[in-house]
Formats: sequence, structure tokens, C-alpha cells
Amino acid sequence: MNYRAVTEGSTKVLVPELSQDASFPPSSAAVFYNPEMELNRDITVVANAVFGHRLSKKYDLNPSDITYVDALAASGIRGTRVANETGLCTTLNDWNSDAYNLILQNIELNNIPGAITAFHKNANVLLFENRYNIVDLDPFGTPVPYLESAIYSAKNLLEITATDTAPLCGAHLKSGIRKYSSVPLNNEYHSEMGVRILLGKVVREFAKYDKAMVPLLSHATRHYVRTYLQIRKGAKRADKTLEYMGFISHCNKCSFRKVVYGLAVNIDNMCPICGNTTVIGGPLWLGPLHDPGFCDEILQELDKYHLNQKEKARKIITLCRDELEYPTYYDLHRICKLLGVSAISMNQIIGLLVDNGYRASKTHFGGTSFKTDAGIDIINDIVLSSFK
Ligand SMILES: C[S@@+](CC[C@H](N)C(=O)[O-])C[C@H]1O[C@@H](n2cnc3c(N)ncnc32)[C@H](O)[C@@H]1O
Ligand SMILES: [Zn+2]
Repeated sequence: MNYRAVTEGSTKVLVPELSQDASFPPSSAAVFYNPEMELNRDITVVANAVFGHRLSKKYDLNPSDITYVDALAASGIRGTRVANETGLCTTLNDWNSDAYNLILQNIELNNIPGAITAFHKNANVLLFENRYNIVDLDPFGTPVPYLESAIYSAKNLLEITATDTAPLCGAHLKSGIRKYSSVPLNNEYHSEMGVRILLGKVVREFAKYDKAMVPLLSHATRHYVRTYLQIRKGAKRADKTLEYMGFISHCNKCSFRKVVYGLAVNIDNMCPICGNTTVIGGPLWLGPLHDPGFCDEILQELDKYHLNQKEKARKIITLCRDELEYPTYYDLHRICKLLGVSAISMNQIIGLLVDNGYRASKTHFGGTSFKTDAGIDIINDIVLSSFK
């Protein structure tokens, strides 16, 4: 295998030489490395530093007392960066022999101070054998095969990347239903749908073991979902978090949507705006996606790091911190198109909603997406009145 050196953050690692042929995906190389995930890894480093500070303060620990595992490490770039840039006591694991050997080389290359260990095991075996403060799952596609062991292993924080956005967002409906025991809706807020379907699966896995989760940060693009879930123990807490589960009733014709909390519910499937029959998605997570305090701490911590994707990271985390908690968003272009008017600007719609007494915010899910507590009928009236 041919290797080349790449530097992400302040860490230099060897990764496989990529084929020049764009139709040759990174996953087909002997060891996986995806340069597109650098932003995801930059945020991982800083989020772990912040969480490490929180644990250090609470339990009077040094960073090197706090354990982090990248259970599906490939080249080891993510975990090597966490070890090198945050000082957490890190474990890297991959069952692929080429990956394991590359991990060993990358550890040596960085001359990392503090403890760093590599394993060559099935991730599920490693996670059932050992417990860590922080468990990171970064699989090919769905994380579902590792949830059981990760929830056993993780003491304080579970971090998950899912790249199976087609099943999560409803584009591959049957696959989504099989993996997540839930019906996703493929509509204008499909990116958020993906996050909420994933969290809905994970919260139910936690609940089986009388554990609860508190989402600290969750972000999504067309290609992946990433979430950071703080773990809390106790049956009562688990019951409380399950109260955030529920369904969304959505009208594909006029964009009306309604959330219904609960697992055994009655849902009216007639759209009150246009009379169309609505579609029902769920069960899914309707609770918060972020802890604004955690986002603020990340924003402060970012300044201390050298990161190639720092400005993009700052933008995403700021949008996450500031977005309303309401569990769906609207797409401004779609609304203007349905109304047959030319598109107005995001600042204009948000300003108009606020002027009319509603809450409104941008979202990190897309440049033309906004959240508001106003219904679609009100939004339509407000958009139309801006043309009068
Ligand atoms: C998406 S890659 C990890 C990428 C890496 N974390 C990064 O940031 O670049 C997934 C890795 O999981 C490994 N893998 C797949 N199934 C596994 C299993 N059951 N146990 C251990 N490793 C596994 C693959 O060999 C692959 O290297
Ligand atoms: Zn309707």
C-alpha cells in the first residue's frame, strides 16, 4: 500500500494514497481515510477537550486520567488527534490488519505523550471487555451493530457518526425501518429527520439498561449525522428521556406539520390547513439536540486550537447553539415556490416572524432552512404580506 502524510490539526499521520479516479470511493482503499470528514474530526477534538475539562473539574482528574476509545479507528487519525491534541488517555482499535499496523505507525510518528494503546479486535468484543469515559463510534454506514456494546462500555459520553443518511432520512425507507425500528419521512427537513431517527433508536437502547442520554451537540449534513450524548444513570431518568419520544404528522402538499409526544398515541391524519391526508413519521426523538452551554464552551475552546476547518466549525457550532428547539424546520425556497412568489431572504423572513411576535432562527441544517413556532398558515401569510 502507498501512503502519504497528511496534517490535520497539529497531528501528522500517514493515510493511504487515494486513487485519482473520483468514482473510486475512499471505503475501497485497504485502509479507510476520508478527507471530507476533517471538519467532523476537528469538532471531535474540541468537543472532547471540553468534555474532558468538565470531567476533570467534577472529579478532580487530569486529562490523562480520562479514557477515550475510537473503537473503529481505520488509520487512527481521529483517535491519534484526540490523544495528541487533548491529552486524553486514548485507545484505538480496528479489526483490519492493515489498519491496525497503520495505527501503530501513526502512534509512533506522533511520539504522543501520555497513554495511547492500540487493539486489533472486533469492536464489540473490545467494548464489552472494557469501559471508557468516552466511546466514539465512527463506522461505515450505520452504528446500530455497535450500540449495545458501546452503551455497556461508555461511562460518561457516547459519540456517534452515522453515514447511512439514505436509510435515516427516508430515501431508503425499508432499510431505515429495519435498522431503526422507525418510519422516517423524506421531506424538506430530512437532515433533521435523520438525526431524530438515530437519537430515537439510541435513547431506547439506553433505556433498556436504565440509562438516559442528554444530547450535548448534534450536527448533520447530506452525508452524515454526528452526535455527542452525555450519559446519565437511573430508571427514573430513563423514563423521563423516553417522554421526548413521539411522532410527526406531516402534510406533503402544504408543509403543515404537527408533533405528538408519546409511544401509544392517537394521531389525526387530516391536514387542518389543506385537507390532504398527512403521513406519519416515527417514533423519533423530539427533545433537544444541543446543550447551548456545551456549544459555548466549544466556541471558547476553538480559539486555542490550530484547525484547518476552524471557521466552518465555528459557524456550525454557533448555528447549533442558536437554533430553536422546535423539532422540524421549514425551507424558505420551497415555501416561496409553493406560494408562487420570488424568494425572499432568510434575514427578511426571520425578521418578519419576530416582528409578528413569533420565535424564529436559522438552522445549521441548510442555508435556506429556518425554525419557528409559527404554523405554516401564519408563515404563508407573512411571506405573502411582504409582497404587498
Ligand atoms: C469509517 S472507518 C473509521 C474512520 C476513522 N474513525 C476516521 O475518522 O478516519 C470504519 C472502520 O471500522 C473498521 N471495522 C468495521 N467493522 C469492525 C468491527 N466489527 N470491529 C472493528 N473494526 C471494524 C473498518 O476496518 C474501518 O477501518
Ligand atoms: Zn396540508
